[in-house]
Amino acid sequence: MEVVILPGTRQIAGLAADAIEALLRRKPNAVLGLATGSSPLPIYDELVRRHAERGLDFSQAHGFALDEYVGLPPGHPESYREVIRREFTNRINIQPENVHCPDGSAEDIPAACQAYEDAMTELGGVDLQILGVGTDGHIGFNEPGSSFTSRTRIKSLIEQTRKDNARFFKGLSEVPHHVVTQGLGTIMDARHVILVATGAQKAQAVRDFVEGPVAAICAASILQFHPHATILIDEAAASSLKLADYYRHTFDNKPKWQGL
Ligand code: GLP
Repeated sequence: MEVVILPGTRQIAGLAADAIEALLRRKPNAVLGLATGSSPLPIYDELVRRHAERGLDFSQAHGFALDEYVGLPPGHPESYREVIRREFTNRINIQPENVHCPDGSAEDIPAACQAYEDAMTELGGVDLQILGVGTDGHIGFNEPGSSFTSRTRIKSLIEQTRKDNARFFKGLSEVPHHVVTQGLGTIMDARHVILVATGAQKAQAVRDFVEGPVAAICAASILQFHPHATILIDEAAASSLKLADYYRHTFDNKPKWQGL
């Protein structure tokens, strides 16, 4: 796990976009794992800018959303399918049919989850997965207690997550209780994972998953087992880390050729 502490969201977005740009130039048909939440938005804005200003090309790329609410009517502005479209994929030249999202309104949810896994496998798996982290350490919507080997499936949200996400809805009562999310096993199969977290409200979760024990109570801690996980955080999110100075020293002295 590489922890990179940066001054702010602009630098975080720049570094994440550099990794995605390098991947697309090396592999134009790369498969990107797309997270929602507010943390990845500056990355999407930066990629949109690079597409507009220097022709960064997504025409052969694929995108797989991490998760989706269950029970929102199709086209609901806060469904993650719509959020991903609005915030990112409608603003670049990715083919709309190459943007995949778990189906939260399927009649047969387990079958839809299996089909989602199969679609990922068919395309050779996710090359680069962008992640945020919840205040309880969830990634995707894998709440505490999620199996480390889980695949895409239905989950129930913890009340704190519903409260955290209520800001996107008219009120708490509108936030669904159920979601479909890629599992922790699914996320671990991505070849490179970039997790972004900013702000003091994420400091405890960051401390727990970076430096705490690997335990299902903190789902993101599974990333300690990932062979290529990059954690991009600002000073506030890094404020509870014991080894912050070591992470800074390591990044500042990293050989240039290594990249992220
Ligand atoms: C939701 C999403 C997660 C995201 C989390 C944090 O629960 N399912 O993928 O990481 O929110 O969101 P934010 O980045 O807005 O804090």
